[in-house]
Amino acid sequence: MMETIEGFLGKSVDNKKSRIPALQDKLQSLSGLILAVFMLFHMLFTGSIVLGTGAFESVVHLAEPGGIYQITNIAAFGIFVVFVAHAFLAMRKFPANYRAYQAFKAHKIRMKHLDTTMWWFQFLSGFLLFFFASAHLITIIFGEQVTAELSIGRFSQLHIFYLLLIIVTVVHASIGTYRLYVKWISIEGTKHEAEAKRAKIKNINFIVWGAFLAFTIVADLVWLSLG
Ligand code: HEM
Repeated sequence: MMETIEGFLGKSVDNKKSRIPALQDKLQSLSGLILAVFMLFHMLFTGSIVLGTGAFESVVHLAEPGGIYQITNIAAFGIFVVFVAHAFLAMRKFPANYRAYQAFKAHKIRMKHLDTTMWWFQFLSGFLLFFFASAHLITIIFGEQVTAELSIGRFSQLHIFYLLLIIVTVVHASIGTYRLYVKWISIEGTKHEAEAKRAKIKNINFIVWGAFLAFTIVADLVWLSLG
């Protein structure tokens, strides 16, 4: 009954607004942060191939104590759950119809504000990730034991897919981590201080992600040379 009243009025019977949207925002940020940190480690993990197939296999063994390779399948399932939760929470922010899309576009053009334009790229890359990252995660969840040989085979067959996946992931995650900072931290200090700090963090953030992307592309060339 209470929920029905809130559904009609947008307020509860004691005239309070729901705290659920705020909780959803927090969970969306937290799940995004977990995925972004995971991705930085993932790039080091696949990038270990630059030191040879032995180095890549050692990293795999480290993650699978006792040689129980199903640990990787289970970890991938865990990441998939976080990924789906993150995407589900993000759907709330998608333009709901053509009118809403037009309103955002007009706003983006008028504002000529880099952060607003970046939000649009984050939306588009997030949409693509629904499909690309799901395909990859399902392959890992139901896949056999990860070995250098298996991954070399997959890289030589799917290099375009992996290249697109890494670009879309880095675009999404790098904008996402910058937005996390803007949303939860950047308002401390005076306006001038906050703006200067924001510009600095923006540069550091994009330099770190750019360096990881460059390293991954070098590693991809190594993967391909082994195929
Ligand atoms: C626990 C979860 C995950 C595991 C165990 C995992 C494992 C792997 C492995 C073994 C490879 C090497 C190629 C292959 O054998 O398929 C790979 C490549 C790749 N994965 Fe994942 N992955 C996971 C989650 C993710 C997620 C969530 C993303 C992005 C949203 C992602 C993006 C990529 C990309 C972009 C590549 C190609 C790397 C490159 O270009 O060098 N992975 N992954």
